[in-house]
Amino acid sequence: MPLPWEKNIKPLMLAPMQGVTHASMRKVQMELGSPDVLFSEFVPVSNVSRRRISRRDLDEARRHNLSAPLVVQLVGNNPEALMEAALQLQDNGIQHLNLNLGCPYGRMTSGPTGGSMLQDMHLVEKCVEGLRKVAHGGFSVKVRSGYEDPAQIMNLLALFESCGVDFVVLHPRTVVQKYTGYADHGITRRIAAEATVPVIANGDITTPQQGHALLQDSHIAGVMLGRGAIADPWLFRRLRQSAETGTDALQRRSRLRIYLSRLLEECSQTYAGEHQVLAKLKNVVQFVDDPALRRWCGKIKRTRSLQRFNAMLDSLENPAGAWVD
Ligand SMILES: Cc1cc2nc3c(=O)[nH]c(=O)nc-3n(C[C@H](O)[C@H](O)[C@H](O)COP(=O)(O)O)c2cc1C
Repeated sequence: MPLPWEKNIKPLMLAPMQGVTHASMRKVQMELGSPDVLFSEFVPVSNVSRRRISRRDLDEARRHNLSAPLVVQLVGNNPEALMEAALQLQDNGIQHLNLNLGCPYGRMTSGPTGGSMLQDMHLVEKCVEGLRKVAHGGFSVKVRSGYEDPAQIMNLLALFESCGVDFVVLHPRTVVQKYTGYADHGITRRIAAEATVPVIANGDITTPQQGHALLQDSHIAGVMLGRGAIADPWLFRRLRQSAETGTDALQRRSRLRIYLSRLLEECSQTYAGEHQVLAKLKNVVQFVDDPALRRWCGKIKRTRSLQRFNAMLDSLENPAGAWVD
């Protein structure tokens, strides 16, 4: 089972997002948007501890009981440590692994991780090779188009293919670009046309039209949504429809209330303490970019109690828009 999706579909995936795509979020995304594949937040791999992955991260991955497969993403820079972490996860029933080669903020005391590793192709090769050797199930990479030169992706693709990865998720920005500019899906199209492995397009897909345009490209195997789905989990369902049905401002407010209320319920069961739950919810609100809700978002980000947060959610149903002050 190298691929976490059925062969005859183009999967819609939830992106890994540290601090955001935790188990509670994944559950709510499944209920509201039903993505075909879910990614974990990145799981750091220790180069020093015998326990390569923290108990908390392992427990979180092990508890997965949703109908869509979970891909657990590792971030680390030591091939042996990564291989041991992979074995540890597999021993605990994890079937799909991914290596983070994109995070622009990646650094451990032992050296660069994530996207920074693209400065050292030999290190990338050792890590990918090692993980492929021990991964019995699916093994994929998530990568930027290059460290500072987007043309680097051609060499990276050749390396991934020769190591035998099962698929590649491409976010076509360079690492030094961080999140500035835009994701250049011209690169994704060219890479997907060249590749002998499935290529999943990721980056700046926030409308069904943008998603459809990529899915219609016969070479692109699927799409991955990050910030767009965190702002609106129904984006997955809207993408599955052939035509955009559109939503008016009232519907958007009502959906946001349903979404944040469900997330609040889930987070309250998982996280101890009002402060932690509020922090998880505010992490989400920062991605809501509906201009009609800008003032409301500003206010809810300043709330200091769940009672107040709930009152703000209820105010979304007020058709006159007279939101609580
Ligand atoms: C808050 C935040 C956390 C992220 N954490 C991760 C992560 O853990 N692993 C990873 O590969 N990418 C991570 N990313 C990158 C996203 O997975 C995705 O590649 C990027 O946001 C572009 O896709 P989008 O435009 O659909 O959001 C993160 C992005 C953000 C904004």
